[in-house]
Amino acid sequence: MTELLNNKKVILSGVQPSGNLTIGHLTGALSQWRQMQEEYDCFYMIADLHSLTIRQEAKVLREKTLDTLAMYIACGINPDISTLFVQSHNPYHSQLQWILNCYTGFGECSKMTQFKDKSQSHSDNINVGLFAYPILQAADILLYQADLVPVGEDQKQHLELTRNIAQRFNHYYSDTFKVPEPFIPKVGAKIMALQEPTKKMSKTDVNEKNTIFLTDTNEQIINKIKRSVTDSGADIRISDEKPGITNLITLYSIASEKTLKEVEETFVGSNYGDLKKAVGEKIVEYISPIRNSFFDLKKNKDYLMQIITTGAEKSSNVAFKTLRKVQKKVGLLPIK
Ligand code: TYM
Repeated sequence: MTELLNNKKVILSGVQPSGNLTIGHLTGALSQWRQMQEEYDCFYMIADLHSLTIRQEAKVLREKTLDTLAMYIACGINPDISTLFVQSHNPYHSQLQWILNCYTGFGECSKMTQFKDKSQSHSDNINVGLFAYPILQAADILLYQADLVPVGEDQKQHLELTRNIAQRFNHYYSDTFKVPEPFIPKVGAKIMALQEPTKKMSKTDVNEKNTIFLTDTNEQIINKIKRSVTDSGADIRISDEKPGITNLITLYSIASEKTLKEVEETFVGSNYGDLKKAVGEKIVEYISPIRNSFFDLKKNKDYLMQIITTGAEKSSNVAFKTLRKVQKKVGLLPIK
C-alpha cells in the first residue's frame, strides 16, 4: 500500500464539480490541501458521481469537471506530487459503495443534515442517490485507507458516519479500514453567504450576490463585498450576534494571513464602509493570481486530460487493494 511504501500518512478529499468554486472551497478545503502535500500522500478527487444527485446538464458537468481540476492546480495543488483524479474514472468507488450500503442503517442516512436540507431545496427530486450520498463518500475515503480528510465544517457529520461504518466493518470482520480523522481548519471552515450571513456560502446559490467565486473579476469582488449584509451596531468584532461582520473579519484574516484578533485590532475606530473596502481589496489580492492561473490552465485541455488519465490509473491501483480485501472478507468469490 502507498502508505507503507513511503511511510507517509494518507489524505483523501474532494469537491463536487456542481458549479464554479467559491472562496469557501479555498478557505475550507483547498488551502489546507495545498499545505498538506509535502507531508502526506494526497489523493484529491473530483466528486462527479456525487454531483449526479442533483440534476446536471451533461455538457456543463463535463466542463465543470475539467474546470474543477484546473482550479485545484491554480490553487496550488501540484499534480507532480499529489494524485488528482475524477471519481467516475475509478470504478472501485461505486463497487465499494454497494458493499457499504449493506452495512449502513437506513436511520443513519435519514439523520444527515445535508440530506434533509437538499430534500427541502430539491423537493421535486429526492432520489435514492441523495440518500446514499454519504455512503459513497465513505467509500471514497476508506478505499485509500486515509488517515486524514481535510474538509469544511459542513462535512463533519459525513465524516462521523464514515468512521462509524469503518469501525462497524472492522469489528465484524477484523481490521480492514483505517478509521479516518476529519481535519477542519480553525478559521475559514464555514464562510457564510454575503447577503444571508447565517447560511453557508455555496457554489449553487441562486443569488450570485451571496457568493465570491474564484473566477470573479476584481470589480465583481469589490461590489459583492460592498453590498454584503452587515449587522446593527457599529463596532467591528467577532461575535455570534454579528454574523455579517464576523464573516468579513474572517475573510480579511485569511486573505491577509493575520489572526482574527489582529484584524479586530486593525479596525478599531473604523466604520463598516472602511472594513468593506479593505476586505474587498485584500480578497482581490488573494484571488486574482488564482483566477489568472485558472484561465491559463483552462486553455490547456491536453495537459488536464493527461493529469486525470494518470490519476485514474494511480488511484485505481491503490483502491483495488482495499476493495479486494473487502470482497474477500464479505465472501465474494474471486474468478481466479
Ligand atoms: P463540496 O463540493 O460541497 O465542498 C468541497 C469542500 O469545500 C468545503 N466548503 C466550504 N468550506 C468553508 N466554507 C464554505 N462556505 C464552504 N463550502 C464548501 C466543504 O466542506 C468541502 O470540504 N461531499 C463533499 C465532496 C466529497 C468528499 C468526499 C469530501 C465527496 N467525497 C470524500 C471529502 C472526502 C462535498 O459535497 O463537498
